[in-house]
Amino acid sequence: MILTFVLHVLLFIVGVFQVESHDVQSVMLGDSVTLNSNVSEVQLTDEIVWRFDTSRIVNAIDLGNPKYYDERFRDRLKLERNGSLTINDTRTTDTGVYKFSTIINNKELIKTFSVTVYAPVPIPVITSVTSQCSSSLESSSSPTCVLRCSVMDVFRGNLSWYKGTSLLSSISVSNLSMSLSLPLEVEYQDNNTYRCVVNNPLSNQTKHVCITDLCQLCSDEVSFCESTEAVIRLVVTALVGVAAAAAFIVLVYDIRLRRVELERHQSHSAGSDTLKQE
Ligand SMILES: *[C@@H]1O[C@H](CO)[C@@H](O)[C@H](O)[C@H]1NC(C)=O
Ligand SMILES: *[C@@H]1O[C@H](CO)[C@@H](O)[C@H](O)[C@H]1NC(C)=O
Ligand SMILES: *[C@@H]1O[C@H](CO)[C@@H](O)[C@H](O)[C@H]1NC(C)=O
Ligand SMILES: *[C@@H]1O[C@H](CO)[C@@H](O)[C@H](O)[C@H]1NC(C)=O
Ligand SMILES: *[C@@H]1O[C@H](CO)[C@@H](O)[C@H](O)[C@H]1NC(C)=O
Ligand SMILES: *[C@@H]1O[C@H](CO)[C@@H](O)[C@H](O)[C@H]1NC(C)=O
Ligand SMILES: *[C@@H]1O[C@H](CO)[C@@H](O)[C@H](O)[C@H]1NC(C)=O
Repeated sequence: MILTFVLHVLLFIVGVFQVESHDVQSVMLGDSVTLNSNVSEVQLTDEIVWRFDTSRIVNAIDLGNPKYYDERFRDRLKLERNGSLTINDTRTTDTGVYKFSTIINNKELIKTFSVTVYAPVPIPVITSVTSQCSSSLESSSSPTCVLRCSVMDVFRGNLSWYKGTSLLSSISVSNLSMSLSLPLEVEYQDNNTYRCVVNNPLSNQTKHVCITDLCQLCSDEVSFCESTEAVIRLVVTALVGVAAAAAFIVLVYDIRLRRVELERHQSHSAGSDTLKQE
C-alpha cells in the first residue's frame, strides 16, 4: 500500500512514464456518450480516477464498486468494467474536459477528452429592415434593401449568409445561450438565391430568402417568388396525387395476384394429395 503510494508520487514527480492521449467528442443534447478508456478489463489492476475539469467525478479501487462524487452528474454516470465512462442524458453544462487516469504496468496512463454538448439549432427568421415597400428606385442610383436573419437561443453555433454556394458573412457564438442576428444588404432587383444558415457540428437549419418578396418596390406589384412557389406547390401536390393513385393500383393488383396464386397452389396441392392416395 505504502509502496504503491510512493510509486505514485515518484511517477508524478518524474512524469517520464506517463502515457497521454487526447480525444475530441461531440454529442447531441440529451444523448449519452461513452468516453472510451481504450484499455481492457484485465489491464486494470490499479485505482481509476475520472475528473471533470478540476473535480473528481468517479473513483474506483474495485471496478465493481465505483464511487460517484459530483452532484451535477447524479444518476447519470456509469463506469464500465473496462474503465470507460458513460454519461447519460447529457446537458450543455457537461461540456468540458474529462480526464481518465490509472496506472498500468507501472506507467501512469492519462487520457483526456474534450467533450462538447450541442443543442439542435433553432430555425432562423428573416425580416426586412427597410420598409416593405420602397420607391427609392428613382431617387438613388442603386437602391438597396436590408434584410436581417435572426435566431433565438443558440448555445454554440454559427449563423451565416450564403449567396448561392458562397459564404457572404458569418457570426458565431461559443459559450452562452443568446440571440444572434446578421444583416444582409441586397439590391431590389437582385435575382440571386440567398439563404441564411444556422449550424453547429451536429445540426443545421436553412432559410431561403426571396428578395422580390421581402424587398418590394411600390410600383412593382407582381411578386415573382410567390407565383413560382405556388406553381411548385401545385406540381408537388399533383405528383403526390399521382404517386398515391399508382401505389393503390399496385397494391390492388398485388392482392389479386396473390389470391390467384394461392388458389392455384391450393388446387395443385389437392391434386398431389389425390395422386398420393392412388
Ligand atoms: C468498454 O466498454 C464499453 C461499454 O461496454 C464499450 O462501449 C467500449 O467499446 C469498451 N471499450 C473497449 C476498449 O473495449
Ligand atoms: C487504443 O489502444 C491501442 C493500443 O493499445 C492503440 O493502437 C489505438 O490507437 C488506441 N485507440 C485509440 C482510439 O486511442
Ligand atoms: C443510461 O441509460 C441506459 C439506457 O437508457 C440505461 O440502461 C442505464 O442504466 C443508464 N445509466 C445510468 C447511470 O443511469
Ligand atoms: C463556426 O465556423 C467556424 C469557421 O468556419 C468554425 O471554425 C467553427 O467551428 C464554427 N463553430 C461551430 C460551433 O460550428
Ligand atoms: C467563452 O469562455 C472562455 C473561457 O471559458 C472565455 O475566455 C471566452 O471569452 C468566452 N467567450 C464568450 C463569447 O463568452
Ligand atoms: C438576373 O440579373 C441579371 C443582372 O442583374 C440579368 O442580366 C439577368 O437577366 C437576370 N436573370 C433573370 C432570370 O432575371
Ligand atoms: C445539415 O443537416 C443535415 C441533416 O439534418 C445533414 O445531412 C447535412 O450534411 C448538414 N449540412 C451541414 C452543412 O452541416
